[in-house]
Amino acid sequence: MVKIAPSLLSADFNKLGDEVKAIEDAGGDLVHIDIMDGHFVPNLTIGPAVMEALRDNTKLPFDVHLMISEPDKYMEKFIRSGADIISVHPEACVHLHRTLSLIKEEAKKKNKEVKSGIALNPATSIACCEPILEDLDMIVIMTVNPGFPAQKFIQSMLPKIRALRQLLNDRGLHVDIEVDGGINIESAPLAVGAGADILVAGNAAFNGPAGKGALSENIRLLKEAVNKG
Ligand code: DX5
Ligand code: ZN
Repeated sequence: MVKIAPSLLSADFNKLGDEVKAIEDAGGDLVHIDIMDGHFVPNLTIGPAVMEALRDNTKLPFDVHLMISEPDKYMEKFIRSGADIISVHPEACVHLHRTLSLIKEEAKKKNKEVKSGIALNPATSIACCEPILEDLDMIVIMTVNPGFPAQKFIQSMLPKIRALRQLLNDRGLHVDIEVDGGINIESAPLAVGAGADILVAGNAAFNGPAGKGALSENIRLLKEAVNKG
């Protein structure tokens, strides 16, 4: 069963706490939190302090997508603030293997289980994660260039998702594939057909076909599109 991870980036920032609760009530499976630093990507969002303030509003996992340079510097803070999954961009890490190890080390210090992931920009090949596949719990295939919600799904990423699924199958590895960017009722079945396990949905969850704020209906429509597709 595919999981839907509504992205807070498209939520109403005036009532973020309620929006986090609403994601759980609406049948979302994870809360996708986009962290942007205005350096790695041309946009700024929230940091660990806001995440921490939201943590008690839901039992759903916090799926934290770090679009920041030098993520090592902030890893301890994100883990302390309640991250359950942390994905970093290899394009932003000089020593990717060290960064992935740091996620596990910092989590262990706090007696927590935190999943480690990497997020690949559209132009980044899956070859970059091939040597470290065993160290990953999740791989995010970006189907937009990171930075903004409501962009168009880059359809040419479908063969990349398929190739990654094949690579994981060949190696007998259980690593989740998350697809992030431009997911809607048309692209969702394509992404799942290619091998996605988790779909991030910003615009489609909060402003989808059922209307603005109709979170449960929009999530239901996405799941229905996937099941039909
Ligand atoms: C893009 C972010 C996405 C974004 C997705 O930089 O990583 O998570 O919120 O938004 P939609 O689903 O609207 O493309
Ligand atoms: Zn994201």
